Amino acid sequence: MRHNEPMDSLLQWRKEFPVLENTVYLISHSLGAMPKRSRDRLNEYADIWSTRSIRAWEEGWWEMPIEVGNLVGQIIGAGPGEVTMHPNVSTCQAIVTSCFDWRGKRNKIVSEGLNFPSNLYIDRKLEELGARLVTVASEDEITVPLDRLLAAIDEETLLVSVSHVIFKSSFIQDLKAITQRAHEMGAMVIADVYQSAGTVPVNVREWNVDFATGGSVKWLCGGPGAGYLYVRRDLWPRLEPRVTGWMAHKNPFAFDPGPIEYADTAFRFLNGTPNIPGMYAARSGYEIINEVGVAAIREKSRRQTARLIELADEAGLPVRSPRDPGQRGGTVTIDVPNGYEVTKELLRRDFLVDYRPGAGIRVAPHFYTKDEELDVAVREIQRILAASSVAI
Ligand SMILES: Cc1ncc(COP(=O)(O)O)c(C=O)c1O
Repeated sequence: MRHNEPMDSLLQWRKEFPVLENTVYLISHSLGAMPKRSRDRLNEYADIWSTRSIRAWEEGWWEMPIEVGNLVGQIIGAGPGEVTMHPNVSTCQAIVTSCFDWRGKRNKIVSEGLNFPSNLYIDRKLEELGARLVTVASEDEITVPLDRLLAAIDEETLLVSVSHVIFKSSFIQDLKAITQRAHEMGAMVIADVYQSAGTVPVNVREWNVDFATGGSVKWLCGGPGAGYLYVRRDLWPRLEPRVTGWMAHKNPFAFDPGPIEYADTAFRFLNGTPNIPGMYAARSGYEIINEVGVAAIREKSRRQTARLIELADEAGLPVRSPRDPGQRGGTVTIDVPNGYEVTKELLRRDFLVDYRPGAGIRVAPHFYTKDEELDVAVREIQRILAASSVAI
């Protein structure tokens, strides 16, 4: 046990996450550990469904996309009622981009080549509706050059679509500078905060971004089925998503055949029946992240990711994440030969990590990680590399 470990008060949370007992859990950038409380919440869902049935809608289910969104809002710096819940980020991105007319002169989308593929797929398909997608390339496949990204934003730019933290390398982008430039040019910003929220401080109102999307599977420990969408409140009256549905109507129970009249509240960004069990599953994760506090999580993450880099350096393993802790999110990518096969072997041995092509093995401590787990994980990678008996 390392000298600083007994002082690590965050380790008291370990008992809330059963999977930590029998795995070395370094995969929270991909799937955060399941809290014990989530099982209780899912049982609650089953009880309510079976006993309250249709009455459950007016006893809480109808308001859930906003009420659960408020828990996320506390994590990302949004105000009450400003975050709506959806099944995933791809849906949220589709909703936002469906608000715009791409046929005019202002039709450019500026993004980075390292943005998450879903976002780029959606943006690229908008070219069929008149949009022009311009992606800023990375020179090292780790960072995104801020000067080139800012220079790409011009008076023909409608939307700047960026990830706060790059999923492959964990590079942190300067959302404040990007938003300032975008607004100077009359463009809007959609920030994907999936790889930051819950481990790197996010403040959508301080940055003044127009939209933010994220999900629950990773750092928020919420499991699959719950994504979230923040839209700057003063924009609401101007935005009419084409990806829509009856829940977005001002008076949904009139079942009016249309055209739709959008709700004045954030309900205007909803569409059909929400994923109620997904929200039951996810909310405990949000509550825990709020209880622990992102500032404390970030402080520990900076220390542990620095330690991981130190260990990788000592072992002679190439690191493909920023070395400057101010530019580095919660993950360290270690690029070893045959990374895919090494990762498979690590998983077999209950070391939970993942592999991304063109990047390497992604290793992520979270607030529940022990320092000693970092040492044993790097040692295990070395062992696998050294073992001639493992066919890799
Ligand atoms: C930054 C980022 N955005 C989006 C996604 C995909 O989100 P979803 O599966 O909810 O659409 C991921 C990861 O899966 C991600 O890392």
